[in-house]
Amino acid sequence: RSLKPTSIIIFGATGDLAKRKLFPAFYNLYIDGRMPEQFTIIALGRADNTDEHFKNYIKENLEQFSRRKMKPEDWEGFQTHIVYFQHQLDQENSYQELYHKLQDFDTAYGVRANRLFYLSIGPDFITTISNHIKKTALASDAGKDRIIIEKPFGRNKQSAIELNHLLSQTFEEEQIYRIDHYLGKETVQNILAFRFGNSIFEPLWDHKHIESVQITVAEEVGVETRGAFYEQTGALRDMIQNHLLQILCMVAMEPPASLKAGEIRDRKVDVLRSIRRITADQVEHYAVRGQYGKGIINGVEVKGYRQENGIAEDSNTETFAAVKFYLDNKRWQNVPFYVRTGKKMKEKHSYITIQFKPLPHSTFSDSPHLLSANRLIINIQPLMDIRLQFMTKKPGLSLVLEPVEMIFDYFACQEDTPEAYETLLLDALLGDLTLFMRSDQVEEAWDVVTTIQEAWQNNKDISFPNYEAGSWGPEESNALVERQGHKWV
Ligand code: BG6
Repeated sequence: RSLKPTSIIIFGATGDLAKRKLFPAFYNLYIDGRMPEQFTIIALGRADNTDEHFKNYIKENLEQFSRRKMKPEDWEGFQTHIVYFQHQLDQENSYQELYHKLQDFDTAYGVRANRLFYLSIGPDFITTISNHIKKTALASDAGKDRIIIEKPFGRNKQSAIELNHLLSQTFEEEQIYRIDHYLGKETVQNILAFRFGNSIFEPLWDHKHIESVQITVAEEVGVETRGAFYEQTGALRDMIQNHLLQILCMVAMEPPASLKAGEIRDRKVDVLRSIRRITADQVEHYAVRGQYGKGIINGVEVKGYRQENGIAEDSNTETFAAVKFYLDNKRWQNVPFYVRTGKKMKEKHSYITIQFKPLPHSTFSDSPHLLSANRLIINIQPLMDIRLQFMTKKPGLSLVLEPVEMIFDYFACQEDTPEAYETLLLDALLGDLTLFMRSDQVEEAWDVVTTIQEAWQNNKDISFPNYEAGSWGPEESNALVERQGHKWV
């Protein structure tokens, strides 16, 4: 599809996300010929910068963060589309200047260009920016103008409702792209193709055949330079409320009638609504929190969370969270969905495990693995594959069974896959909302974690740190699944 001329306005263009993800994504889309023929990235920053200085900074970052090697001819073309604009978030005249600048681009294009606003800034500034955009009529064309908003979208259900209300004063719901970059990951999108593009898995995709579902997002990194933000956030808000619940929705949703955005979003919100709410007195039973102490990762000694920059010595912020959810609907009755995520864990590994039920009767009494034989593992990152585990006869004279794996590996088919932000930015340019979150989805997702959040906030009686950096989290996380005879796999 050919794209209309577009002005892309990035608030926070000198920040970390812009340099690591946004510019590399636009650059790769440009190389692939997926950007509009006429486009300008207007990079907003507080500092007094020349275009040349800013472009050099972007070039250096692309060399480091783009998945493709920089070629001088690509850069030469791409850089002509970048403009730096000194801007003060809280000053109206700064928005008026921007207004005129955008008009100049429209004049140059010969049409009123589409406008894509990207808010790559802390959540505290959303209100200010949105109000100013309204006041100065920067987004005056509902058919052409869009806004992308980064997570965290609010701090709890109430603030998300308020934020949604505020945005609705300036934008229609169809103009608002709430980003969750996990939904742009190749392997996460493939869950839809895998489930609904095949006839052999879906008949087994329910409580009759599935014993439990596990979703793990383990990170090796810690809080890096984001200590101040993370202290106020914690793993439940940072990861479970959004990324893990979104993956859960992809695994659990009913088949949509079509791939239309509204259709898929409706099915996902159904899942969030069906998640059984954990009451305050159940939190201890259903949820586990952890914080890392010092430890060893890849043979290197690392500090504990409380010793990191910007972290309180007696911090109670969780860097690990595990929760057991149940879905009250026909398909998933009594199937536990275990989710866990943590920082400074043994290795970076995100994956989903679908554990099928054991056979009701074993014909092969000599084969101990049989009870937990069938398992489907969807590796999200850094491994990107799908593995189906099943039993076969061990080659030899006697009839002994052993588990084996059938593997589909992405890298065997393609060396390089687009990054999540490439997919999502292209969708936003195209006006496809499917992979973005609607207001009700965000609010429901907050609702799911609220009682846990509040219980943890109110109960400071927790002895942190309770897991070593370089481990798989606190012991209680194992107990959470073992109580039901399960194991993290
Ligand atoms: C972000 C979180 O949303 O996702 C970070 O705020 C986390 O804390 C990151 O590290 C993980 O993303 P990815 O793509 O590296 O798995």
